[in-house]
Amino acid sequence: MRKQTLAGVVFSAALLGAGITDAFAADETLRSYAEKNGIYIGAILNSQWFGGGLPSQYEQVHKTQFNIVVAENEMKFDATEPSENRFNYNNGDKMVRYAKQNGMRVRGHALAWHSQVPNWVNNYKNDKKKLLSVLKNHIDNVVGHWKGQVDEWDVVNEAISNNEPQWRGFSVWYQGIGPEFIDSAFVWAHAADPNAELCYNDYNLEQGVNPKAKAGFLLEQVKRWVANGIPIHCVGSQTHVEDTTTDKHFIGSPDSLRSLARELAKLNIKLKITELDIGFKSGINVSKSDLERQGQTFRQYLDIILEEPNADTYLIWGVSDKWSWLGGLNRQKGLIYDDNLKPKPAFDSIMVRLQNFEPPQDTSKQDTTVSDTTVTDTTKKDTAATDTVGQDTTISIAKIVGPAGLSMQLNGHTLSVKGAVSARVDVFDMQGRPVFSAKNVKGSVDLKDVSEGLYVVRVRSGSASLTKRIAIK
Ligand code: XIL
Repeated sequence: MRKQTLAGVVFSAALLGAGITDAFAADETLRSYAEKNGIYIGAILNSQWFGGGLPSQYEQVHKTQFNIVVAENEMKFDATEPSENRFNYNNGDKMVRYAKQNGMRVRGHALAWHSQVPNWVNNYKNDKKKLLSVLKNHIDNVVGHWKGQVDEWDVVNEAISNNEPQWRGFSVWYQGIGPEFIDSAFVWAHAADPNAELCYNDYNLEQGVNPKAKAGFLLEQVKRWVANGIPIHCVGSQTHVEDTTTDKHFIGSPDSLRSLARELAKLNIKLKITELDIGFKSGINVSKSDLERQGQTFRQYLDIILEEPNADTYLIWGVSDKWSWLGGLNRQKGLIYDDNLKPKPAFDSIMVRLQNFEPPQDTSKQDTTVSDTTVTDTTKKDTAATDTVGQDTTISIAKIVGPAGLSMQLNGHTLSVKGAVSARVDVFDMQGRPVFSAKNVKGSVDLKDVSEGLYVVRVRSGSASLTKRIAIK
């Protein structure tokens, strides 16, 4: 998908109404807004899904909200080639069918990785020639099987050592072959499916682009690969991060990842966020304001994908906190739906941002090359949307009708809700931060405590939901 300025057109047209900026009805989903912004938004299919072990609501949420999918474990080496040269594609095929039925892009994860490698591979750990042929055979078969169906592959995963600028030593591929296993893996994957997008994927890439950090080391390798004609098209940043206030030692930041995106743009390489979660330390009590701050961090990472021309994918490593690998990392609550598959503040934050993002005029995301290397001031960008709609002079809005006859109308500071016995009303600022919330609204609610400015208001009743932008003067 190419990033487009379509959203800008849609929003600008809607802005003509007095004070009302848009009305979103039945298709109010993350994916519908992601598509308007020309990006992919996704979540893994958790391993439990493959065995039919998840409630139907999980799949319902997954397919309505996301437009890109990746298997949590089912396309890894140990899953696809459990014994030598005997391949098992059942689960992967199941996911590819699901993606097709639901119009989703498919990521393949992962071909050459030190982890989740079946034991039989280790039998050849001292035989370079054999290991090379094992890896080639794996890639030929797996990529070949899903040729034209898996759109992009993590060809190499986590090949760099944790925090030092060097290759990861404890990998059967590195030890048995040397770092050239990476170059070869890309060449073989490209031969097996010349149309697939090929990524190098790793974690801790949001900790600065300098020679001492992982991203700095990686950047040097990417330069070399590109110079040598290795077919690499993208870097995947896993982005498994911790909420900064519960882990004082965590040094990652969205700005650092943005600067990596900009360095990659100079090489014509994309940046994708491939495994996002923003966990809290296990055992701590997570408050409402913690969850709101977490939502802001989710939004800051989304901003990179929306704003950087060479970034197009925002993929979360799970749907609901109930099914998440984070427990094993001593973290919790890192996803955008809670244990009961209810959207968390992070969901709202992402949704509102997707709704109100306006691409800079006259730039089509992929046709622009970024030359600026400085870290962006994201707050400056945040005001862009406000500026373009600043002319609204009234707070009266026409009646907006949504799903199931739900409607809202703003008059003065009074928001009237019709078509629901009782509704929930949420008001967000343009950065997606909640500023007002009222449950059990019957008939109308007074927004006089909301200060002047532009907002997104959302009315929900049962499964019906209606959202629009308002200007309060
Ligand atoms: C994790 C899965 O979520 C777990 O179910 C599994 O036990 C271990 O792997 N980086 C990656 C992913 O590239 O494949 C990992 O997924 C999470 C870290």
